[in-house]
Amino acid sequence: MLEKGIYVEQIKKLKRKKNAVILAHNYERPEIQDLADFVGDSLGLSQQASRTQAKIIVFCGVHFMAETAKIISPHKKVLIPDVEAGCSLADSISIEQLKKWKKENPDAVVVSYVNTTAEIKAESDYCCTSSNAVQVINAIPENKEILFLPDKFLGNYAAAMTGRELMVWDGCCHVHEKIGDIDLNAAQSKYPNAEILVHPECGCSSSCMLKSTLFEDCKNIKIFSTSGMVNYVKKSYALEFLIATETGIIHQLKKVAPEKLYHPVSEDSICEYMKLTTLEKLYTSIQNEVFEVVVPERIAKKALIPIKRMLEIC
Ligand code: 13P
Ligand code: SF4
Repeated sequence: MLEKGIYVEQIKKLKRKKNAVILAHNYERPEIQDLADFVGDSLGLSQQASRTQAKIIVFCGVHFMAETAKIISPHKKVLIPDVEAGCSLADSISIEQLKKWKKENPDAVVVSYVNTTAEIKAESDYCCTSSNAVQVINAIPENKEILFLPDKFLGNYAAAMTGRELMVWDGCCHVHEKIGDIDLNAAQSKYPNAEILVHPECGCSSSCMLKSTLFEDCKNIKIFSTSGMVNYVKKSYALEFLIATETGIIHQLKKVAPEKLYHPVSEDSICEYMKLTTLEKLYTSIQNEVFEVVVPERIAKKALIPIKRMLEIC
């Protein structure tokens, strides 16, 4: 194993030599975020994948994100440093379950959160991310029934924000589900002056949304995607924040507004899949051009349609 500084230098050299770009999600390890050419949320990463001129995309995130990049940029080589980087939310619906659900609701429009496999996207009408779910739902004619999958917390949030009745799949992410009202209330009592930033995948997101609209003293609760949080702390007058999402985001928050304080609602909110990417694996990935993400052409072509529709909306 090499020293950290040597890995960093070698990765930078290889990146230039091979015309590769490194994209990293906001939950990645700090050293991976610091090396990336772009760090962002699912929407930002998809947009970057569609715009890059690089020949190789090295995706430091989880598998569905790398797959989305491959679908958007089929002629580029997309690499993921660890093939085990999955997502419990993407695993919460199977293709057989979706086909059955569609059969039971033949006239409904299918909106899939981007945290899904390529196969699920290929059976969907629209994709959305946590930052544009509301706009995507609003773009669908009001007389249409909507099947929303797989995240129940994001689905309930989008239903409340749009005033639409959505049929919502009963899936969730194992990290965010655990961030519930009990943790949040305890953190709030400890840091009463902090603004509260909540990811819509959290178990507490519905109650937070309700509290923030109903009660004057809960106006300091805001619901955002991960990059929504990054943009918000830069412009907010608040000096202290409670963060209800995976703790990796705190590295980006400290980078953009280092003078402010950030407290995770729960220290245990760690996505083990996001932490699989290490400097050593990133180095091996770019050096040996592994592990290549492959999406069968037939599925990629179909999956591109809902992704494109989403990117055209926002
Ligand atoms: P964002 O798009 O908000 O970054 O969310 C992705 C994700 O996997 C959250 O768990
Ligand atoms: Fe998936 Fe949850 Fe990890 Fe996000 S935090 S990648 S939804 S398992």
